[in-house]
Amino acid sequence: MLALTVLLGSLSACEDSAEAPVAVDDVMSGRWYSAGQVAAGAAVFAEHCAECHGGEAQGTVADWRARLPDGSFPPPPLNGSAHTWHHPISVLLRVIDMGGESLGGQMPGFGQVLGDEEKLAAIAWFQEFWSDEIYEQWLMMGGTN
Ligand code: HEC
Repeated sequence: MLALTVLLGSLSACEDSAEAPVAVDDVMSGRWYSAGQVAAGAAVFAEHCAECHGGEAQGTVADWRARLPDGSFPPPPLNGSAHTWHHPISVLLRVIDMGGESLGGQMPGFGQVLGDEEKLAAIAWFQEFWSDEIYEQWLMMGGTN
């Protein structure tokens, strides 16, 4: 909260010289997304993703690393406990668009189902489960690229 107050303070100080970014008072401290995106993402995720990835993005199988009998991988947790944080947003969006079919996987593609805003909101929502440490690592690895 302190950081946000400072940020808003410094922004209003240079109000004359620069246009304020959209919805600046809604951006969550240290994260790329807004509280509004997280809220929108909760609805997207519940409707389209939770059946496989779990209601809190925790996954739906005991061991997401173990192949299923058909040789494919189960849906991993997206809550920061698996390796989703190794991927930048561009790659996460591609998986959501294309699904896992090209990898012999089971995830359907959502490219024709969801708009870009909805896909980004879903990502924001599951990233809310990531600890600050995991989020920092993701940023350092170029996560927002
Ligand atoms: C029918 C089950 C199913 C649904 C529905 C589903 N997924 Fe997946 N998801 C998977 C599986 C299985 C994988 C692992 C890759 C593969 O085999 O397809 C995966 C992988 C992913 C990955 C890559 C994770 C990583 O650590 O590399 C992301 C991101 C992802 N899903 C997001 C979503 C989002 C967002 C939605 C909803 C819009 C969604 N998934 C809906 C089954 C599903």
